[in-house]
Amino acid sequence: MKTVTVNASKTYEIKIGSGLLDSLGMEAAALGKAARICIVSDSNVFPLYGRQVTDSLNASGFTVSDFVFPAGEHMKNAETFLSLLNALAEMELTRSDLLVALGGGVVGDLAGFAASCYLRGIRYIQIPTTLLAAVDSSVGGKTAIDLPAGKNLAGAFWPPSLVLCDTDTLRTLPSDIFRDGCAEVIKYAILYDPELFNVLMENGIHFDRESVIAGCVQWKRDVVMEDEFDRGLRMKLNLGHTIGHGVEA
Ligand code: GLY
Repeated sequence: MKTVTVNASKTYEIKIGSGLLDSLGMEAAALGKAARICIVSDSNVFPLYGRQVTDSLNASGFTVSDFVFPAGEHMKNAETFLSLLNALAEMELTRSDLLVALGGGVVGDLAGFAASCYLRGIRYIQIPTTLLAAVDSSVGGKTAIDLPAGKNLAGAFWPPSLVLCDTDTLRTLPSDIFRDGCAEVIKYAILYDPELFNVLMENGIHFDRESVIAGCVQWKRDVVMEDEFDRGLRMKLNLGHTIGHGVEA
């Protein structure tokens, strides 16, 4: 396992390695105070890992509930966001309780933004299950939803309390979704890491996942620590995003 520590407006750890899902309960307990936890996930990911995550949290004494929405970028909208806030209120989560974002970028963005607003802010744990979320969106505290006028137009900077990246979850990713995450890895290689760039040129996408994710996260951590609120340097991390969003559209 590799650990990267972020020291920005908040200090938190990013843990990367195999088999980490089973340690979630212990890790959440170590954050202190919480009694209830709501797992936020989507219809692709929750059937794969929801049971394992719930069992781990139950074993550490938490009362666990979940909010699962249909998978897809189109769900990252105000309606899903409000349904999530209402569900958290019905579950009677308090300010000391926790959310767990179990999934890719859409889940992380929705759960993170809800965490920033619910009761004026509660803590959350990111569990990225896509390569894109592991190397980019789960780190740095940018959260958002899309509005009819455009992507990510409403959101907040709200850092997680912990990022737990279990590399085993990448095994169930469809290959096109894994390749799409590789674009973010290539981004870090172009911006910061000629050695990684050469590895990618030689071996393509067959790289050691734990060490490449940890390497990318370290680059991102360094940028976030210098420009957490995206006033200049952090904009570099959008390299390729405009054309990516165009292709996506
Ligand atoms: N995804 C780019 C950033 O976090 O700034």
